[in-house]
Amino acid sequence: PAPMIKKKVLLMGRHQSGKTSMRSIIFQNTLPSLTSRLGATIEVEQSHQRFLGSLVLNLWDCAGQKSFLESYISAQKSTIFAHVGVLIYVFDVETSSQDWMSDLKYFRECLKALLDYSPEATAFVLIHKMDRVSASERSTVFAAKRHQLLQHCVTGTKVSRVFGTSIWDETLYKAWSQIVHTLVPNATALKRGLTTLTRACGAVEAVLFEKTTFLLIAHSEGIRSTADENLLSASASTPSSTESGTSTGTDTSPSTPGEYQNSLGSTAEKLRQQQLSQLSGNRFERISSLLKTFKLSSPSWSNEKWIGLHMQLPEFTAVIEPLTVNSYVMVLCADDRILPEAIKVNIRMAKQKFE
Ligand code: GTP
Repeated sequence: PAPMIKKKVLLMGRHQSGKTSMRSIIFQNTLPSLTSRLGATIEVEQSHQRFLGSLVLNLWDCAGQKSFLESYISAQKSTIFAHVGVLIYVFDVETSSQDWMSDLKYFRECLKALLDYSPEATAFVLIHKMDRVSASERSTVFAAKRHQLLQHCVTGTKVSRVFGTSIWDETLYKAWSQIVHTLVPNATALKRGLTTLTRACGAVEAVLFEKTTFLLIAHSEGIRSTADENLLSASASTPSSTESGTSTGTDTSPSTPGEYQNSLGSTAEKLRQQQLSQLSGNRFERISSLLKTFKLSSPSWSNEKWIGLHMQLPEFTAVIEPLTVNSYVMVLCADDRILPEAIKVNIRMAKQKFE
């Protein structure tokens, strides 16, 4: 077996900014509505998350109360900031302007410590609880905060990206998927494998989700056929077609009874609505969080008997199946002459290449 690769991920930010909530939602399947019950973290809570084959994430959830923050940048500095792969710094968008200034000061101190003890580490910033800002103001508020904190960055540190996030929508998945993606050792090979699989299936694209968290790990290179172009323009001009519910549109029935999920209920209905008219932007993160909800409510899935599902929708076919022990693949096909069974055969043949 491949040797384990352990990556240290530091999760930092002020008290109540939402660090433990996001960790619990992503790694422990906690529902967002239950995060208000989480107690304050004391010191540092370390956990190990087996992630995709040989990768282990060593998460350090660092308590955000002032006394703790101060000790991280003084007495505990060399312990906390050594051997870091990624720093995720969380700002609460609702923080008062006075506290925001002191947050920026800590942020800068943390970046300095990171540069001293783990110069190769990458930092990501989350401006969190964006749901608390009205939709109309969100992009302006985000841009202003982002600008301010980038001005507080330390020359030499790799602050890779700033994300606006909320536990109430797919933005959290998007941010964490992109962050964790940077730690996956064989990401390029995965992308290549998915691109080959996509071509073999005659599909539009294929994506890989990690099994426990449903974080999106890799996706194929975009393959655009003329058919796809037609589809995209057709769905853009007739958005209501996704709601029309033709007989094929609502058909989520399995082709092999007992093997595929029979009843997907409202989750399938929501998935159905993620049709080609929305094939842009956050589609995978949405699918990812919907699948996670579905998984949590599906007994056969949670006891590991779940084998996969497929949906035949008016505009495309989606097949989701386990690929390796730690991942699911989703193949999206826009040619209705290609049967789901054929896609499944291709996925099964591709399996050993991904193990
Ligand atoms: P410490 O352990 O003290 O450092 O706090 P923390 O950063 O771990 O905060 P925690 O995850 O405990 O969350 C604090 C509160 O924020 C909880 O009541 C969460 O429900 C709430 N919260 C977390 N994320 C969000 C979000 O995206 N939006 C909103 N509205 N509330 C959130």
